[in-house]
Amino acid sequence: MQKLEQLYEGKAKKVFATDDPALLIVQYKDDATAFNGKKKGTIAGKGVINNQMSNALMRRLAAAGVPTHFVAELSERETLVKKVGIVPLEVIVRNISAGSFCKRYGFAEGVRFAQPTVEYSYKNDALNDPLICLPHILAMGLATAEEMALIRDYALKVNAFLCDFWRDAGVTLVDFKLEFGRTPDGSIILADEISPDTCRLWDSATGERLDKDRFRLDLGGVEGAYAEIMRRLKDHV
Ligand code: TMP
Repeated sequence: MQKLEQLYEGKAKKVFATDDPALLIVQYKDDATAFNGKKKGTIAGKGVINNQMSNALMRRLAAAGVPTHFVAELSERETLVKKVGIVPLEVIVRNISAGSFCKRYGFAEGVRFAQPTVEYSYKNDALNDPLICLPHILAMGLATAEEMALIRDYALKVNAFLCDFWRDAGVTLVDFKLEFGRTPDGSIILADEISPDTCRLWDSATGERLDKDRFRLDLGGVEGAYAEIMRRLKDHV
């Protein structure tokens, strides 16, 4: 597999073409941003952790019936993935109140919901990724009703799998964000990453935050938290 020209640089990853038009290489950076890029920093070693964690989890999700873009881990920071057209939605699943849910509704943090919630944000930096409802997704033609039913079903399957996985590792899955893509044959698969950048993960015993909120909220101990959550994953797989 030959790595060709860089196609795109995002906030946390670079994407390269390969000599196979159906495959891309993603390269994970240590760069961290928050609040739509207004806060910028570096988390040393994050790229390696996010790459390895996302791949370990996506391998297991594929076995659990959720198709993903993962093809092969090429190096500490690089992964071969299927090329997809990203559905421009952030699919957010919540088990416990935190983050923008608490801010939007003035609701207490740390309340476990009777059922997980699934919500969508429209991926558009210029608009600050606004919350979007299903009728508006359909009205704008961002996805079809059939695709949205599948995306919701996959998101809840990912949640059930990740809740069990992290619980067994002594970690509580509070919430997370997924992105989905369309393959050339029109099927929907899980894309992007599953990492401490995109999940809230709290130590089940102490409540300590082992995720990017340490960076977002200036809590300190950011690198240590990423190393600790990776250690939990490795001990458990
Ligand atoms: P929120 O509470 O800020 O809406 O975040 C919900 C989840 O989504 C949380 O686990 C962090 C993740 N997330 C991202 O992965 N990217 C983002 O840009 C934002 C805002 C949140």
